Amino acid sequence: AKDPVRVLVTGAAGQIGYALVPMIARGVMLGADQPVILHMLDIPPAAEALNGVKMELVDAAFPLLKGVVATTDAVEACTGVNIAVMVGGFPRKEGMERKDVMSKNVSIYKAQASALEKHAAAHCKVLVVANPANTNALILKEFAPSIPEKNITCLTRLDHNRALGQISEKLNVQVSDVKNVIIWGNHSSTQYPDVNHATVNTPSGEKPVRELVKDDAWLTSEFISIVQQRGAAIIKARKLSSALSAASSACDHIRDWVLGTPQGTWVSMGVYSDGSYNVPAGLIYSFPVTCHSGEWKIVQGLSIDEFSRKKLDLTAEELTEEKALAYSCLS
Ligand code: NAI
Repeated sequence: AKDPVRVLVTGAAGQIGYALVPMIARGVMLGADQPVILHMLDIPPAAEALNGVKMELVDAAFPLLKGVVATTDAVEACTGVNIAVMVGGFPRKEGMERKDVMSKNVSIYKAQASALEKHAAAHCKVLVVANPANTNALILKEFAPSIPEKNITCLTRLDHNRALGQISEKLNVQVSDVKNVIIWGNHSSTQYPDVNHATVNTPSGEKPVRELVKDDAWLTSEFISIVQQRGAAIIKARKLSSALSAASSACDHIRDWVLGTPQGTWVSMGVYSDGSYNVPAGLIYSFPVTCHSGEWKIVQGLSIDEFSRKKLDLTAEELTEEKALAYSCLS
C-alpha cells in the first residue's frame, strides 16, 4: 500500500473548504488508491466550525483518510505537508479599499509562506486559491525563498473549466470532448479566455472550436465576458461565491500536476512567468501548461494574434499593478 500523502487545506472551515476536504478524502485529488492525511487550518473564530468539519470527516468513514489534523496553529498545520491548498484569506468587505484587502492578505501570505518554508515536506507543491490568487501566490513565493518557484502556483483552472463548459453548451457537445482552451493572466475580470487553439472531438475527428462556432462575434465578445464574469453571476444567483466548482477545479489542478496531463491536452495554471509569450517575468500569470512527472511546462510556440496580444498585455498590466500594490503594503 502507498504511504499517505499529507494535504494541507487552509481556510478549511469556509465554503470551499467544506466542499474540498471530502473530495480529497474520496481520492478525487490524488487518485482512488492514494491514502491521505488531511491538515486543516483556520483562524480562532472558526475553530469550533473547523472541529465540526473534522467530526463530519470522521463520520463519513472515508477508507482513504488516514488522519485529520484540525488546528489554528500554522506551524502545526504546515508540518510535513506534501501538498498545500491555500484557500484561507481575507475577503473584501463592503466599503473596503483594495489596498486594505491587499494589505491583510499580504500579511497572511507572508506568515504562511514562512510556516510552509520551515515545516512543509521537501518538494511540497503549493496551490493558492484565495484572492487575489496570483498576487497571494507571488507573496508566498517571495517569503518562501527555499521553496522552488516551480512549486508555487495559483488556481485558474476554474476559469479554464468554465470556458470548456461554455463551449460545450454553445455547441451542444460533451464537455469531455472539448479541450485546449487557455486562460491567460490574472484570476480576475481582466483574464483572457482564449479559444483560438481549442478543439472538439467529433465523430469526424478533432475540429477547431473556431471552425465549429460559426458565430465569431459570440467568441470575441460574449463568450469572453461570460467567463470573465462567471464568478459574479454565481454570487448573484447563490448569494455566495463559487464553492463546489472551485473545489473540484482545485482537485483537477493538483491531480494533473501530480499525475500528468493527457497526451495532446494542456490545462491552465497560474505559474511564475519566465517571460514566455512576452509576459513580464516575475509575475504569477496563467499560462497553458502540460504536466509530466510532477512538473509543469508552459506550452510554447502558440500563435498569438493582435486581438489576443492586447488582451495578454492588459491582464499583465493589472498584475504588475497588483504586484506594486502588494509591495507597497510590505513597507
Ligand atoms: P470563506 O469566507 O467561506 O472561507 C474562507 C475561510 O478562510 C474562512 O473559514 C476563514 O476563517 C478562513 N481564514 C481567514 N483568514 C485565514 C488565515 N489567516 N488562515 C487560515 N484561514 C483563514 O470563503 P470561500 O468562499 O471558501 O473562498 C475562499 C477564497 O477563495 C476567497 O478568497 C475567494 O475569493 C477565493 N476564490 C478563488 C477562486 C479561484 O478560482 N481562484 C474561486 C472561488 C473563490
